[in-house]
Amino acid sequence: KTVYLNGEFIAADQARISVFDRGFLFGDSVYEVIPFYQGQGFRLDEHLQRLEHSLRGIQITAEYDWRNILKRLVELNGGGNLSVYLQISRGSSDRRSHIYDADMVPTVFASCSPINDIYDTGLDSVDGVRAIVTADLRWGRCDIKSTGLLPNILVMQQARLAGVEEALMIREGLLTEGASCNLFVVDKGVVYTPKRGSDILGGTTRELILQLADENGIPAQEVDIDYERLLAADEVWVSSSTRAVVPVLEIDGQPVADGKKGPLWARMFELFTCYQRN
Ligand code: PDD
Repeated sequence: KTVYLNGEFIAADQARISVFDRGFLFGDSVYEVIPFYQGQGFRLDEHLQRLEHSLRGIQITAEYDWRNILKRLVELNGGGNLSVYLQISRGSSDRRSHIYDADMVPTVFASCSPINDIYDTGLDSVDGVRAIVTADLRWGRCDIKSTGLLPNILVMQQARLAGVEEALMIREGLLTEGASCNLFVVDKGVVYTPKRGSDILGGTTRELILQLADENGIPAQEVDIDYERLLAADEVWVSSSTRAVVPVLEIDGQPVADGKKGPLWARMFELFTCYQRN
């Protein structure tokens, strides 16, 4: 397995970073997860735009030829269907200090791991998930894709202990998103999703779902979603780069509608499949 670290493509077990790296000490770093299908980045422009947004958000200047780095990394790992993880930390100095120097050199790390091409396997192979709803304990800049994922980890562990696969988070009475995915609800043929802002990550898959809805005459709106609205929905979906769009079939022990994968989900999944193939 080959990884990228600070300008070099090296074996994963040879890759080393400093114990004073600020990503390690403070979570002073941002990341992206980008799917590659048949060796090609999926929604790569959108991911790189969001990366720039995250870097700007924490004042890291890192000008690299991301496209070439990731392309080369994917090739060196055999191409095909891979999920690329890219992390940029502010870098390291010789001591721990909250204050950072302006001239720090970022630490850049990328690796990849295999993913299924779910679009190949079709509708039936997508399992719905069960979810709990739990308090969103994250900071005020969830639009920055920070590696500070402790709240996300804790809620997923909570889900696991509850025997389910997903955790949806609620803040001041409104649903925000899942631990590593965006949220959609369907009510009487209309698709709703929480508004984009600093409370959620602007998901690339979320944007694509809104785009596909728009192009195909499916009404979609960005609105506030409270717990009642969530539980009364005809369908609930979550979305992310690694999982595309997945139906949620049970929330806090209650089935969503009849507890089966919904027709509008199936339609969206098919639209996704077509989009991805073209
Ligand atoms: N997570 N919301 C959160 C909190 C996320 O961490 C993610 C992605 C998303 C979906 O964004 P996108 O559609 O661009 O993948 C929403 C990645 C996959 C992760 O942390 O592994």
